[in-house]
Amino acid sequence: MPTNVIILAAGQGTRMQSDLPKVLHEVAGAPLLAHAMSAAETLSPEACTIVAGHGAEAVEAVARQMDETVRIAIQEERLGTGHAVRQALPESTAMEGDTLVLYGDTPFIRAATLERMLETRRAGAAVVVLGFYAADPGRYGRLVVKDGGLERIVEYKDASEAERAIDFCNSGVICADSALLPGLLAEIGNDNAAGEYYLTDIVAHARARGLDVAAVSCDEAETLGINSRADLARAEAAFQAAARAASLELGVTLQAPETVHFSLDTVIGRDVVIEPNVVFGPGVTVETGARIRAFSHLEGCHVSRGAIVGPYARLRPGAELAEDVRVGNFVEIKNATIDEGAKVNHLSYVGDASIGAGANIGAGTVTCNYDGVMKHRTEIGPGAFIGSSTMLVAPVSVGAEAMTGSGSVITEDVPPGALAIGRARQTNKPNLARRLMARLKAQKAKRTH
Ligand code: UD1
Ligand code: CA
Repeated sequence: MPTNVIILAAGQGTRMQSDLPKVLHEVAGAPLLAHAMSAAETLSPEACTIVAGHGAEAVEAVARQMDETVRIAIQEERLGTGHAVRQALPESTAMEGDTLVLYGDTPFIRAATLERMLETRRAGAAVVVLGFYAADPGRYGRLVVKDGGLERIVEYKDASEAERAIDFCNSGVICADSALLPGLLAEIGNDNAAGEYYLTDIVAHARARGLDVAAVSCDEAETLGINSRADLARAEAAFQAAARAASLELGVTLQAPETVHFSLDTVIGRDVVIEPNVVFGPGVTVETGARIRAFSHLEGCHVSRGAIVGPYARLRPGAELAEDVRVGNFVEIKNATIDEGAKVNHLSYVGDASIGAGANIGAGTVTCNYDGVMKHRTEIGPGAFIGSSTMLVAPVSVGAEAMTGSGSVITEDVPPGALAIGRARQTNKPNLARRLMARLKAQKAKRTH
């Protein structure tokens, strides 16, 4: 049975106090929308439609980056969640299977929870609502359950005192029979306290037709929605706490777990040791047995088995470290492959480069990769030895087992096995320093008298 996913993301998010559409704010290095989209993705949906309104162009650009096939429906006027879903339904073609509605600002709904909803749908319910027992039900919609079935959903604004006392709340996630949904939506009116078309009203309409409606419940933590910067900070903290616990569970050592930050897609192997104050930006994979030392920042990179990174290292997108590589303090690596056992231990910049196995890059080495207009590559062969403070003016190559003298500016390719010295010859002038100093002191004495 095909699953059709609709993600509501037209809201402005006024309380964010931001120029950025709410769903583009980030938790764990990924926009809120990406969290919702990846939860949906695990269901291998037939189609995924995002309902955008406020900042629709920016929302569309981010959504397409994640999934080129995503559909975008524009909701010009924000007339309620029911109206929003209607914008996402195809006009004429009848659909089969299930339609699942998610919110773009609710990042933590688990794939397993969505699976449970689909199973309940397949067991015969025309509509399935995801509810949760709220510690503080506040202004959530309330699920009115009677004889084990879901009767209707009443919004807080429209609820009686007795209904407001219910603590079983609507998360907003709803799954419905795709063939019935357009008809149910057509029956919704806006004669209510908010003057909006409530998606939640499809429950009562389905019941009126004698259809089965069920509620599935999940942990309240999954339903955390983002409406303010404080919510965003809370969501980040919740994500990090869960990610740290999951890493420990999988056999990763975190010396100070509360100081390590992960991204949504971080992958860390068993027996990796992570020292305090390490940040993993998006796109990092660290293999078994590697060690990430304190105060390192990694993004878009791959660290192989046995490699040691840091302390104070920065690995930027495209940094590919082979097994047993050493990257030490105050070293930045970008778009560069460092082959097995090579060492870049101190104060260096290696960008747009390849470094052969076992090569040793001396302190203060810089690949001068940018001429102000274009980026150029530096190739260093296996076993090469780059002397401290070598400037490698790209495009340039240093052959296998070649050496460069300390302080060299290398502008021409160095053949394999050669020693390149690219600096002015030193000359020593006997006694000149002393004579100069004496003359300067005499001049100063004359001026002050
Ligand atoms: C909604 C539910 C409520 C539930 C709560 C959970 C309805 C009528 N109410 O209330 O039962 O407890 O969520 O958080 O569904 N959106 C659009 N277009 C619209 C309106 C909303 O895209 O015209 C999007 C918003 O951007 C947001 C989501 O739908 O992501 C929910 O809208 P919101 O206005 O926050 O609904 P609530 O009043 O909180
Ligand atoms: Ca809300």
